[in-house]
Amino acid sequence: MTIGPDALDTGPRARPRVVDVRVEHHREPLGIGEATPRISWKIATEQHPWVQTAYQVEISDPVSRLVERSPAVRSPESILVPWPGRALRSRDRRVLRVRAWSAAAATPWSPPLALEAGLLEPEAWQAGLVVPGWEGDPESDQPAAYLRRTFTLPDGPIRARLYVTAHGVYEIELNGLRVGDHVLAPGWTSYEDRLRYQVFDVTGHLAAGENCVGAIVADGWYRGHLGFRGGRRNVYGQRTGLIAQLEIELPDGTTSVVATDGLWRASTGPIVTSSLYHGETHDARCEIKGWSTTSFDASGWSPVQVLPASSHRLVAPMGPPVRRHERLRPQIERREDGRFILDFGQVIVGRLRIAPCGPSGTLITIRHAEVLEDGELCVRPLRAARATDRLILAGTGSREEWEPRFTLHGFRYAEITGWPGVPHEDDVEAWVIHSDLERTGWFECSDPDLSRLHENVVWSMRGNFVDVPTDCPQRDERLGWTGDLQVFAPTASFLFDVSGFLTSWLRDLAADQRRYGTVPAYVPWARFTFPAIPIAAWGDAAVIVPWVVGHRFADRGLLEAQYESMVAWVDQVSKIAPGGLWDSGFQFGDWLDPSAPADSPGAGRTDPSLVATAYHHHTALIVSSVAATLGRPAEAQRFAVIAERARTAFRREFASSTGRVVSDSQTAYALALQFGLLDPGDESVWAARRLVRLVREAGHRIATGFVGTPLICDALTEADAVDEAYGLVLQRACPSWLYPVTMGATTIWERWDSMLPDGSVNPGQMTSFNHYAFGAIGDWLHRVVAGLAPAGPGYRRLEIAPRPGGGLTSAVAVHETPYGRAEVRWTRSGERFELFTTIPPGTTARVRLPDAASTTQEIGSGTHHFACRMRPATQDPQPGPLPDIHSTEAP
Ligand code: BGC
Repeated sequence: MTIGPDALDTGPRARPRVVDVRVEHHREPLGIGEATPRISWKIATEQHPWVQTAYQVEISDPVSRLVERSPAVRSPESILVPWPGRALRSRDRRVLRVRAWSAAAATPWSPPLALEAGLLEPEAWQAGLVVPGWEGDPESDQPAAYLRRTFTLPDGPIRARLYVTAHGVYEIELNGLRVGDHVLAPGWTSYEDRLRYQVFDVTGHLAAGENCVGAIVADGWYRGHLGFRGGRRNVYGQRTGLIAQLEIELPDGTTSVVATDGLWRASTGPIVTSSLYHGETHDARCEIKGWSTTSFDASGWSPVQVLPASSHRLVAPMGPPVRRHERLRPQIERREDGRFILDFGQVIVGRLRIAPCGPSGTLITIRHAEVLEDGELCVRPLRAARATDRLILAGTGSREEWEPRFTLHGFRYAEITGWPGVPHEDDVEAWVIHSDLERTGWFECSDPDLSRLHENVVWSMRGNFVDVPTDCPQRDERLGWTGDLQVFAPTASFLFDVSGFLTSWLRDLAADQRRYGTVPAYVPWARFTFPAIPIAAWGDAAVIVPWVVGHRFADRGLLEAQYESMVAWVDQVSKIAPGGLWDSGFQFGDWLDPSAPADSPGAGRTDPSLVATAYHHHTALIVSSVAATLGRPAEAQRFAVIAERARTAFRREFASSTGRVVSDSQTAYALALQFGLLDPGDESVWAARRLVRLVREAGHRIATGFVGTPLICDALTEADAVDEAYGLVLQRACPSWLYPVTMGATTIWERWDSMLPDGSVNPGQMTSFNHYAFGAIGDWLHRVVAGLAPAGPGYRRLEIAPRPGGGLTSAVAVHETPYGRAEVRWTRSGERFELFTTIPPGTTARVRLPDAASTTQEIGSGTHHFACRMRPATQDPQPGPLPDIHSTEAP
């Protein structure tokens, strides 16, 4: 099996080298927002074990030519080490190099990393907010605004930067050329408190003489239609606008600044309407040729209004932008009535790019859907989202290439009507769009369906990590539901580098929490019909997500930054539940337990107050341990007391002294066991046996919802019943993880049975085919099936403990940890088990083999091979006789 990125070519016996130097979580450190960015690097070496003993950082200032070198710091740390230089100010540029030592060797200096600060102080902004002068209809989708201004430069620039953002979503051009390749910039943040700006190097776009800057701004999240049950428009305001500041350094040492001001002019153009939910309509007959060039006559354009830009809200990005990625070609089927049905073979998030040729005024309509029902697009799951793009041809006589700019759809199928003639293969393609996260995790095994399940998890992550971690990408929702991310965060952190992306989202969470008085159920928060109220497992994201991300990426600074938010959440819940029992208010409970009726997804088997109390204990305990890590022993103690109170309440209210838990559901036992709510002895043994019994009685069909699903396989594994976990994971009948795979799913579904076995779509009004929450099983596949688990922050210590089972004959997991590539590959042939593992430089691992003695071995960095005889199946620790609490027979 060959998966994962190409191995780093270190060359034969090459000298150890420092590679992949980064500041904070930036892959593109132009316009960063941190004045003292922390520094990370990796070591490429064949000399193992590599253990760093010291490092040195050199920071040079290309302007003053001042070079600051830290002393050689005796430390094994190479992740997010403190910035040793002077704090950066706005626009400061630096060049960074790192070198490192082990006991045996020194590296040369790393290749230089150039970085540049953004606008760090609000005063650095001179730009106003330019809004078109006209009043639109705030009750409907509105045309995109075209904005432009010309300016003259006495000379060609030696350096030019564009700082830009919008109320709405924008694309910007200079002298007729698009700047950057971001999609839906500036993205979606809690705009009241945080509006991201982007920074582009535009030196090559400008020349001496007259220049022109132009932007298109559309509704986006700012004032477009958002939300379910009717939702709302104008959530953040009724007028879109642009904030742009172009700074041009000239050869004479002066800087010329062109900012959004009263000299801009505005017009509408070919984008008649643009909506994230409903799609885009483009009338190519209204194309404005050359509108962002100097030769264009804009005398007919209207004046703009300039409003204050509130620059204190403007923040630099912490994670990557959204971009276009994969490109797919469809199979095209012509229908008798002239329509075309396109199948891209994969549920994706993105949009079509088409190139039709036809007479002026021809209307081409594209509708999108994730599934077909009775051979037609099934759009019922989209609810109010129309997901329809329209192109009206100009009739140029040649192919008119078009792709919508400011909308996205979740789809596998598209229907095209009105195409003049027949689309050829080259005339239609789909672009997959998502945040430009670096892929860091891979998994594959000998069961093709299980490998496909994993692939589906990856696709659902791509589709739902579009600037905000969303529940689903297709219907009138696409919101950052906190509970969904909370359960998926460990899987997400393995598959892609989400450190910057989620750091940014957590800042929004904290901002919304401060503003709205609790952790809302989705972030960014926008009020539709749903109130901002504390809800267990959803609001708990405030604690669990920073804890997971902080641990996986060794980011203690994230814990520090989120600490206030974590504390505020647990304190708020402990006020609601002063005795530790959280049994008041609205709860989602074990959302989408398959036994819940289609129209009542919260009505599962497990008592919602049991879920809430268990979570209260869990997150209070996490905050206690974070407080201890951050050197706050009194706080650690205070939260330990809160946690213990919740545990006591849980036991009193929900657990018998033998280990029986009320609701008697798989989720109840999984929670009680995984969150340490039962005593480790007899109680836990009893509960584990009961869990196994329930799993078997259910025929290994899944019986858990959002809350139980991420826990159940770990609960079984830790109860020495890994075969039962395999039974669940390899089940193909409905409901199960693999049932959708047998139905041809290419993403994770929202419901276990989003499509029913007869091929019809679940009648529930909440039925998405692209929801990552149940994909939380990915983490168990990585840690337990393949056996690649973190045992310390940033995987500095690893636990390599594969648990072969379920008849699998091989599995492989690869993860690009903050220290470098970790890899586990195992094969099994009869009783013979072989393991190859690679541990990155600077890390150590404990390997546990699946032999009779559970042999363990400590290893350092490098590649290792182990072989053993598998533990005979009969020796598998099986649960003993099971009590049946439903039995009427005497024990
Ligand atoms: C979303 C979920 C979300 C839920 C709240 C749904 O509409 O799609 O994934 O967590 O509401 O329970």
